[in-house]
Amino acid sequence: EKGGYEHFMLKEINEQPRSIADCMRGRLDAKNGRLVLGGFRDYMNKFQNADRIIITACGTSWHAGLVAEYLFEEFARIPVEVEYASEFRYRNPVVNERDFIIAISQSGETADTLAAIELAKSKGATIFGVCNVVGSSIPRATHAGSYTHAGPEIGVASTKAFTAQISVLTMMALKLGYQRGTLPENRYMQLLSELETIPSKVEKALQLNDKIKEIAAEFKDARNFLYLGRGYNFPVALEGALKLKEISYIHAEGYPAAEMKHGPIALIDEEMPVVFIATKDSSYEKVVSNIQEVKARKGKIIAVVTEGDTTVRHMADHVIEIPETEEAFVPLVAVVPLQQLSYHIAVMRGCNVDQPRNLAKSVTVE
Ligand code: M6R
Repeated sequence: EKGGYEHFMLKEINEQPRSIADCMRGRLDAKNGRLVLGGFRDYMNKFQNADRIIITACGTSWHAGLVAEYLFEEFARIPVEVEYASEFRYRNPVVNERDFIIAISQSGETADTLAAIELAKSKGATIFGVCNVVGSSIPRATHAGSYTHAGPEIGVASTKAFTAQISVLTMMALKLGYQRGTLPENRYMQLLSELETIPSKVEKALQLNDKIKEIAAEFKDARNFLYLGRGYNFPVALEGALKLKEISYIHAEGYPAAEMKHGPIALIDEEMPVVFIATKDSSYEKVVSNIQEVKARKGKIIAVVTEGDTTVRHMADHVIEIPETEEAFVPLVAVVPLQQLSYHIAVMRGCNVDQPRNLAKSVTVE
């Protein structure tokens, strides 16, 4: 059942070109400029006129929600709030019938997310689900939704569900932006064609596996890790850190790179590996100066960069080159080497990768 792989997690990491393609199949037709998401279409009017979107989720799904915040605000110009379901449900939030709630959950069974949905529903909001498990509790509790179609995810550490969630949310943001007129047609068409190339770019990123194994061997005994990124890559940094924590039990933190100087920089010495996501995008120059700041303090730098980047190569201890894509789509590709890095470190440390201690695949109690 592991399809020849040693662990489900590795199988699921490697399945991503296909799971992303499955998620887009029958929905995205770039050549004809068509983008159809069943459940979304029926609520398009409501969505278009929403005062704001509130995204609620836990864990990795919450990270997908953060990526979506950037996507919806950039393309559809609707204000977005992203809330941990556990906080949202208990703090008497201001919600009304003009709010649109997106609940994201792989399992569709997470207790806090389900309770957040019920609360928002009781206040008259419209609830849209982005879930993986068909027929689970969350899709049954929402007004409408789109499944991620990633296939069963067995490893406790979420991998292919995350990229499928982002794929659905990206399609939603593009469609909404186009319908609202905030995303001009030519740009919309361009983005659709680029989105179609993502599975093959993820395939290419997966080929970095051997290089990542070498990096893993060098850092497997580290006690701490920092992950830094800006813009769309900030949630990727959070996700990279969570993956490492949950399966290798190494303490790791993700931060927006610019926040480093407000505290975490004090942690940096020659024993601190820092993973930068430093792809060629609108914040590239700023991330490069953050890299220099870490280098000046003798931190060990592992940088995920855009193919062909020569600047960062001279500063970093290791570079991981991923294929170039639209800034908004980088998380789909950049997260892959971070999943592989945590996987290899955990295996080298002898950890139970698919079933890490103290964790369950779905958290059905609060
Ligand atoms: O099934 P859900 O997406 O609602 O689960 C949410 C979190 O429990 C989940 O993402 C958790 O953080 C994973 N173990 C992360 O890999």
